[in-house]
Amino acid sequence: MISIVLGTRPETIKMSPIIRECETRNLDYFILHSGQHYSYDMDRAFFEDLELPEPKYNLDVGSGTQAGQTAKIMTGIEDILVKESPGIILVQGDTNTVMTGALAAAKLHIRVGHVEAGLRSFDRTMPEEINRVVADHVSDYLFAPTETARQYLLNEGIEENKICVTGNTIVDAVFQNREIAKKGADILDTLGLEPQGYFLVTSHRQENVDNPEKLRSIIAGLEAVHREYSLPVIFPMHPRTRKMVERFGVSLDGISVMSPAGFLEFLQLESNARLVLTDSGGVQEETCILGVPCVTLRENTERPETIEVGGNVLAGTGADRILVSAREMLSRTGSWQNSYGDGTAGGMIVTICNGISSRSSCTR
Ligand code: UD1
Ligand code: UDP
Repeated sequence: MISIVLGTRPETIKMSPIIRECETRNLDYFILHSGQHYSYDMDRAFFEDLELPEPKYNLDVGSGTQAGQTAKIMTGIEDILVKESPGIILVQGDTNTVMTGALAAAKLHIRVGHVEAGLRSFDRTMPEEINRVVADHVSDYLFAPTETARQYLLNEGIEENKICVTGNTIVDAVFQNREIAKKGADILDTLGLEPQGYFLVTSHRQENVDNPEKLRSIIAGLEAVHREYSLPVIFPMHPRTRKMVERFGVSLDGISVMSPAGFLEFLQLESNARLVLTDSGGVQEETCILGVPCVTLRENTERPETIEVGGNVLAGTGADRILVSAREMLSRTGSWQNSYGDGTAGGMIVTICNGISSRSSCTR
């Protein structure tokens, strides 16, 4: 039995191809939701958009401090794992849900598969970096999206036969939903936008938006881009960011703020944007896959492949550098390679998990 553990927006999206594979193959599996994300537009909307089955369990942990949230998720997951005794649990990415699920299972001697293993920003001030490192080091099966990720794992002494390069399931999710997104309700019409006639922004990294100077500086950079190009700046705002904008009294002149978009709407917005500015991990990958230029509002990235192929640039959070980086990305012509695989990662991962009783490692 496979236990698919998830808890936040990106985990639901990136686990969706794996869940679909389990459904198609009629496998014995269940979804365990931590409840880390719980607002309709951060959670349920994605189960509806992606037509996913209901989680068998939802721990409803909600928000909290790093340790408080982690502790609640861990005890909740432990109870379910003891009750269900799955053969393997799958976690995806780098959130508190991921680290906690991996740790709880490893201590119960339940095998752990980490989807999107081996990403490194080498910045331990990010909670996500700590989560990734811990999850990787307690996992039995490391599904690395790229050769770079595999190399990082080897450099940390992780055994080669635990690692499989599968591509990233975000490619599967984009390919599976891109056409559906085109046919669905047209968010561009609703917002009065022209293809290539707007900029799209997301920002929610704790180290950016919880810091009033950085948040103000990012907004000043976005306003400068808006003034220079006279194009709308569309910002579907993460609830953490909305909370901080209100707390710090940041004004958003010239920026069109909206609620977080559903995945199909967001894919439409991304595909048709002139440029995307973001501090999201998943959005850096998606823009690379979709061939849309990206400016990353961070000083580092655990997605270096997007920069190497020419689809992304690091701008940090300084207003001037954001404008210069936007100019730079807008001047780049031609397309770039998608670094994240051919959209078959979900199938490959499920095949490996389904055969674990006869496998001693990822590769044998
Ligand atoms: C979490 C992950 C981050 C991931 C992001 C995806 C960690 C440490 N962080 O960050 O890696 O990129 O999810 O979006 O696991 N809130 C709501 N409704 C919700 C969820 C959150 O209003 O459904 C608000 C609450 O005020 C909460 C804040 O957002 O305090 C932050 O939520 P939290 O889950 O702690 O972290 P994220 O910033 O969402
Ligand atoms: N996304 C979405 N609606 C939005 C913003 C993002 O559906 O309004 C999707 C996006 O397509 C991507 C994922 O959310 O697949 C990225 O999640 P997020 O930025 O919250 O987390 P990260 O990837 O940084 O962990």
